Amino acid sequence: MTTTDPTLRTRLKRDLAARHARLDTLFSSFDLTTRPGLTGFLAAHRAAFAAIRPAPGGLTGPALLTRMIDAIDADLATLDAVAPPPLAPLQLTRPEAQDYVLLGSRLGSQLLRRRWAAATDPALQDAGRYLTLPPLTGQWRRFCDGAEALGGSGTGSDAIIAEAGALFDLFVTAGHAACKPPCLSPEWTT
Ligand code: HEM
Repeated sequence: MTTTDPTLRTRLKRDLAARHARLDTLFSSFDLTTRPGLTGFLAAHRAAFAAIRPAPGGLTGPALLTRMIDAIDADLATLDAVAPPPLAPLQLTRPEAQDYVLLGSRLGSQLLRRRWAAATDPALQDAGRYLTLPPLTGQWRRFCDGAEALGGSGTGSDAIIAEAGALFDLFVTAGHAACKPPCLSPEWTT
């Protein structure tokens, strides 16, 4: 790595910013203060997490996926909703990609938790196990420090970016599958 090369951390943020913005827009269309909105949001995340076949190693993996899926299943049961149909599996080979997306998703959840907390329906208030899982900021910082120390050029980095992009796309697919009216806000057009 020369001093002018981007680090892996820089590339992840820069190259995937547009895809994250797409996810943000899509999932912000689920109104977490309504039963259909919260149910659709949780169902989409459940379907995406369950489709991930983790890469060996890294900071996250099967243990975190199981923890998130179990929390969502308990929330869906509270909402009298069933688990969504499965999506095609996505086999990962790059632990950096899965750590980036899984730990990064906890950052967004902190914002979404505040949106959900505005719900007044007691059933919705009881369905916050997933959204109130710990933010895992320590692991996120560890991941960022590691990615900051790695060069962002070359086929290895390209493969990590491609797998992280495929993971974002998996969530987009899951969001669209779960997003049926009336979970959509009126301004949703794409
Ligand atoms: C409405 C939905 C979402 C919102 C509002 C949202 C919001 C955010 C925010 C505010 C951050 C920056 C946090 C910080 O820097 O402290 C962030 C980062 C991130 N989010 Fe999301 N997010 C959403 C959905 C998702 C989903 C579904 C995933 C993946 C499954 C995801 C993955 C990530 C990743 C990987 C980062 C780190 C970006 C970087 O710094 O490189 N987000 N999100």
